Amino acid sequence: MTSAVRHLLRDDDLSPAEQAEVLALAAELKAAPYSRKPLEGPQTVAVMFDKSSTRTRVSFAVGIADLGGSPLIMDRGTTQAGRGEPVEDTARVLGRMVSGVVWRTYHQRDLEVMAELSGVPVVNALSDDFHPCQILADWQTIIEHKGALAGLQVAFVGDGACNMGHSYVLGGATAGMDIRIGSPAGYQPDAQVVADAERIAATTGGSVTITDDPVAALSGADVVITDTWVSMGTEDTKAERLEVFGPYSLTSERVALAKPDAIVLHCLPAYRGLEIAADVIDGPQSVVWDEAENRLHAQKAVLAWLLEKARS
Ligand code: CP
Ligand code: NVA
Repeated sequence: MTSAVRHLLRDDDLSPAEQAEVLALAAELKAAPYSRKPLEGPQTVAVMFDKSSTRTRVSFAVGIADLGGSPLIMDRGTTQAGRGEPVEDTARVLGRMVSGVVWRTYHQRDLEVMAELSGVPVVNALSDDFHPCQILADWQTIIEHKGALAGLQVAFVGDGACNMGHSYVLGGATAGMDIRIGSPAGYQPDAQVVADAERIAATTGGSVTITDDPVAALSGADVVITDTWVSMGTEDTKAERLEVFGPYSLTSERVALAKPDAIVLHCLPAYRGLEIAADVIDGPQSVVWDEAENRLHAQKAVLAWLLEKARS
């Protein structure tokens, strides 16, 4: 029944109540990793990569196996998509053989086409625009360290126009957090994404603040976050990026602007000495290894939740 099929293509594909439901399931699966087997059979989930990955690749492979299923990991270069087969045709074929599709790619529109034509749940494993799986892992980590999400002051400094910046804005509004993005002009989140987030924040009690002042973004924050300055696919503007993002580097002096008990997140991979200092990411406020582990638990929760919806 195609109409019941749900997807996670961007963070606001989950309502505030649904996001909370998935996060509760993630905590349950962390405590009891083999307690749910929605893919028993085993059913296969295709996991496709058009960009590099370590965490996403491993966490989906392990997570799908934990859920009783069989992961089919595909790199673009070894598929016919890599030789030009249209996404429409790939979607129709995959939908006849697998129970779900997890895809890391460039264009958000391609994920939408995959969702429209495959007829199975599709999960965005990172696009140029959003990284919703990472956000769920981040929120699980914040809950573990801070107890709850709503009302927290969350500061992201760096490239606000990348997938992570957009997902923090949307996912944070959904969770009722006060999200502050500190990014230079030209690298601030897309206006439409901010407008979408503000509409959600009006219902959750959250807020979205965009500033070019890293001090304003970081001051008094409960959670401090950054990401690479050179996202996959932007390497041709690397020199300009290293120059413009310098004042947004998470040094220990800048982290000290946040609350004394603030925690530091980074989705990884990290570039020490650029977007984050070594003594910050390897220091006592950093929770990045919990964050990386939670990719596994949060994604198992998403898959289990989507598959259950698809069957209802
Ligand atoms: N954070 C993240 O998505 O890591 P990978 O690129 O290694 O999958
Ligand atoms: N913004 C980064 C995230 C990597 C997980 C990128 O797209 O490369």
